[in-house]
Amino acid sequence: SMQPLDVMNAGKVVPVLVFNKLEHALPVAEALLEGGVRVLEITLRTECALDAIKLISEKLPEAITGAGTVANAAQLKAVEDNGAQFAISPGLTPSLLEAANKGNTALLPGIASISEMMLGLDHGYDCFKFFPAEANGGVKSLKSIGGPFPNVNFCPTGGISPSNFREYLALPNVRCVGGSWLVPNDAVEAGDWKAITELAKAASQG
Ligand code: 3PG
Repeated sequence: SMQPLDVMNAGKVVPVLVFNKLEHALPVAEALLEGGVRVLEITLRTECALDAIKLISEKLPEAITGAGTVANAAQLKAVEDNGAQFAISPGLTPSLLEAANKGNTALLPGIASISEMMLGLDHGYDCFKFFPAEANGGVKSLKSIGGPFPNVNFCPTGGISPSNFREYLALPNVRCVGGSWLVPNDAVEAGDWKAITELAKAASQG
């Protein structure tokens, strides 16, 4: 099974996906793969999310399929049972960290403060989502955290866009960035898979 650092190193941009309909899952995932993006975070924010994880992980083995918005141990178990190779949480709790340590799904726990990060480090984690990145100091915060903790790896998300993602990726402690900008809802509703491929190309080719 993948380790958290493997997930972070598998792609510089991670689309945060919210599927309103299961029928969107495969065409969106294929459009992203076509554009050079293969790490996919499917958020547990909609009814069909678990089915979408299962479908993409079964049909598109070249994708690295994971779950987002995983907030507790029960959800972690559910995404693992549906084929998720990794899970991302908006924040962290001791029970979630312990569950992931016992399971097979790589967890990138979310942090917004140094103390939360230290709790994660105490549980053996050194790869974190930094959320909400822009609202929480963005590039400046991550630079500062890199002083005392140079060996901690981050995937910032929340407010990342085509205009700022390169600044984040230029930081030595940022392995990848996440965001919803790669898959606009209007493109999905219109079935404009080409538009998604173009956004993925622009992001994955820097
Ligand atoms: C997340 O869960 O990481 C965020 O919802 C993504 O934030 P964005 O919509 O600002 O990219």
